[in-house]
Amino acid sequence: MTALFIRNASQLVTLQGNSHAPRVKEAMSELNIIENGSVWIENDIIHAVGKDEDLVAKYKGRLHEAQIIDASGKLVTPGLVDPHTHLVFAGSRESEFNMRLEGATYMEIMNGGGGIHATTKATKAATKDELFNESYERLNQFLLHGVTTVEAKSGYGMEWETELKQLEVAKELNERHVIDVIPTFMGAHAVPREYKENPEAFIDLLIKVMIPKVAQLGLAEFNDVFCEHGVFTPEQSKRILEAGKIYGLIPKIHADEIEPYQGAELAAEIGAISADHLLKASEQGMKAMAEKGVVAVLLPGTAYFLMAESANGRKMIDLGVPVALSTDCNPGSSPTVSLPFIMNLGCMKMNMTPAEVITAATINAAHAINRAKEIGSLEVGKKGDITIFNVGNYMKLQYYYGVNHTDTVVKNGKVVVRGGKLIEELSISKN
Ligand code: NIG
Ligand code: FE
Repeated sequence: MTALFIRNASQLVTLQGNSHAPRVKEAMSELNIIENGSVWIENDIIHAVGKDEDLVAKYKGRLHEAQIIDASGKLVTPGLVDPHTHLVFAGSRESEFNMRLEGATYMEIMNGGGGIHATTKATKAATKDELFNESYERLNQFLLHGVTTVEAKSGYGMEWETELKQLEVAKELNERHVIDVIPTFMGAHAVPREYKENPEAFIDLLIKVMIPKVAQLGLAEFNDVFCEHGVFTPEQSKRILEAGKIYGLIPKIHADEIEPYQGAELAAEIGAISADHLLKASEQGMKAMAEKGVVAVLLPGTAYFLMAESANGRKMIDLGVPVALSTDCNPGSSPTVSLPFIMNLGCMKMNMTPAEVITAATINAAHAINRAKEIGSLEVGKKGDITIFNVGNYMKLQYYYGVNHTDTVVKNGKVVVRGGKLIEELSISKN
């Protein structure tokens, strides 16, 4: 069966429009909804989007060829896109969660050898198969929450062998799981303990050895840095990101997460595709990002889990910054795969509207990972990546929170989740 016909959605959220630049201000609210909307997908590409009656007329001689999904009473959106995860890791850190609830801070735990260092130890110790299987299972969970594309960072190695292992696992996951996994090198996730007294030597290693090798092997598209007081300074971050640019790696930054540190300004200055976190970003930094079109990837689940105040998403949108949303899925600051829950937090904690959070988790998220030409909206020529939710309208998706409303997921034109359950044979392989 090569054709798939999704019919009669009570709301078909197309997000049709300009895919050349991320959406800003009022354009973030323009969902371009079609009521009684249908989509015709052939092979893995969207061939038609419109009113059910119009598509029935267009394909009337071919209806018998198509697999038909009745979406009446349901909400249909582009497959959700998660543009910031630390997908490939081993182990779990619930004991640190407990320590934080007893008063320890995230940075204290990290500086004491836990945090990122604890996950690094576990990731080093894991075999490639173990790492693959754990991460594969997380991808299944992402799919069950309506997510069809996931960015994945390395950074739980910070030495060549383990960074390579993480990136190779990400590559293999991309090949063997239906979800598209977009790789980012994040060797600059922390200064390894053995370089504590001499971080410059580690930066040298990143710039002279690891970044060139990653690029040469074609294992990443982006280069990310944790620019934070006590981790990498803006000046060090700039050098690491500039080095990546020489090798064709596009800069991303973990910016202004815990303290104000001019991370947003740096992102604009070096032409990063996104700056992420931004809880403590300055107004000047936000304006610079707006001017340069740097996507703000906001992670309200991390703020929630670290019991911090969320980024000022409302202000960023009002200033013209393109905003995207992501889980930041990782074992320390955001152990979740539920992008729909993050969308609810976008409303509750950052005063974004239900329409804005949908744009932020689809087309703007696609822009943050350089994929807006292929995904993020339901338009002719784009990939057949579609999620069907068991709610009648887009507002209800955020309003009725804490429940997984995902009913059906279509990836590359194939049904991979139906009735909220994985279709096993299809989800195990792209081919
Ligand atoms: O995006 N802030 C730095 N990195 C991750 C957390 C990684 C971890 O704690 O394991 C983040 O929040
Ligand atoms: Fe992160």
